[in-house]
Amino acid sequence: MDTKTDRSFILKGDICYNISPTQFDTRKDAYVVCVDGVSQGVFDELPEKYQGLPLIDCGNMLITPGLNDIHVHAPQYTFRGIAMDLELLDWLNTYTFPEESNYEGLKYASEAYDMFVDDLRHSSTTRAAIFATLHVPATKLLMDKLEDTGLKTYVGKVNMDRNSPEFLCESSAKASLTATRKWLEDVKGAYVNTQPILTPRFTPTCSDELMEGLGNLVQEYGLPVQSHLSENLSEIDWVKGLCPWSTCYGQTYEHFGLLGGLTKTVMAHCVYSTDEEISLMKQAGTYIAHCPQSNMFLSSGIAPIKRYLDEGLNVGLGTDVAGGANLSMFRAISDAVGVSKLRWRCVDQSFAPLTIQEAFYLATLGGGSFFGKVGSFAEGYEFDALVLDDSGIRSVRELDIAQRVERYVYLASEGGTIAQKYVAGARIF
Ligand code: GUN
Ligand code: FE
Repeated sequence: MDTKTDRSFILKGDICYNISPTQFDTRKDAYVVCVDGVSQGVFDELPEKYQGLPLIDCGNMLITPGLNDIHVHAPQYTFRGIAMDLELLDWLNTYTFPEESNYEGLKYASEAYDMFVDDLRHSSTTRAAIFATLHVPATKLLMDKLEDTGLKTYVGKVNMDRNSPEFLCESSAKASLTATRKWLEDVKGAYVNTQPILTPRFTPTCSDELMEGLGNLVQEYGLPVQSHLSENLSEIDWVKGLCPWSTCYGQTYEHFGLLGGLTKTVMAHCVYSTDEEISLMKQAGTYIAHCPQSNMFLSSGIAPIKRYLDEGLNVGLGTDVAGGANLSMFRAISDAVGVSKLRWRCVDQSFAPLTIQEAFYLATLGGGSFFGKVGSFAEGYEFDALVLDDSGIRSVRELDIAQRVERYVYLASEGGTIAQKYVAGARIF
């Protein structure tokens, strides 16, 4: 299927994509052209030179860029929507760590990862940055399964060598680094769609020696990094105690070359980042994965996303399953708008709530750039697209394209259907 010719075609329909964090471009009955998996741009009239390409007429369906989930835990998919009664540290110890220990067994891992991968394939997500567990065999199995979907993903074998229960803890920094190297060697060159990402779980579960070793692996392999940062107040206090030498939580990564700069790095949450931490992230080009549903359900707080956008930081959206119950990126977009309004009302009126355009930007271009030229239909972007059938979401009113996209975000589960999905020009379904 995924040959070069298959990846050259035209979609016709009602197109909507961000041309800036605050602006949509919308075009009725327009053409978006894909050649060898790369967008050639959006046209009201089809240019002559593309007239020989196959045309897929989507009628009046919506055509948008694919959505990028830049923070999600695959092994936690099994307990999404339950165990929502505790804050982060108790939630990890009570529910999350015991569940993740099950992935030592490949039979359990295979069954659970089949469900996650199948649901992700059918979702609106085209690219994702994914945590696995500390287990190398199960992590490779997850990568094998994801590779077959055609989705583009980064997958991380998790590192954790302290402050973790015996049943989910690597025996030393050395053991953790050895396992990581073995994993990296095993998966080297093995995949087209699936790439490894270094994944220190978070500072509380990673010794300085482990962080230093991972920093060396960043240099040696040129790999991206993902972790968690400033999610919860008790977590932040704990980090201060564990790393008395640090000036802020972010510096406990930055000190070891794990906050970005050399390679792309994504930090989930940043709910309570200080001015110093924000400035370190800005210097390093760190990506912030905003996970509004998780921040609600783990009672973590509300991240100042409008501030991060205004200050030019890189921000995208994550579902953070199972902190967030829902794998839907449409839900993540509407939650981002919702919590930004609560923040504005209840916390701080100096930053306006997010608009639908801004929240859609986070899910498309904002997080997309973590994967390269991704998240737009402008010429030169990798062709990731969703064809959305909103005819099942009934309306007596005439709606414009921007309103239909907004309504789809809020009402996707009430009659919306993803009719087609493309990643880098390859049709997923
Ligand atoms: N911090 C460390 N591990 C986790 C996790 O699994 N989920 C969330 N939300 N935060 C974390
Ligand atoms: Fe997380």
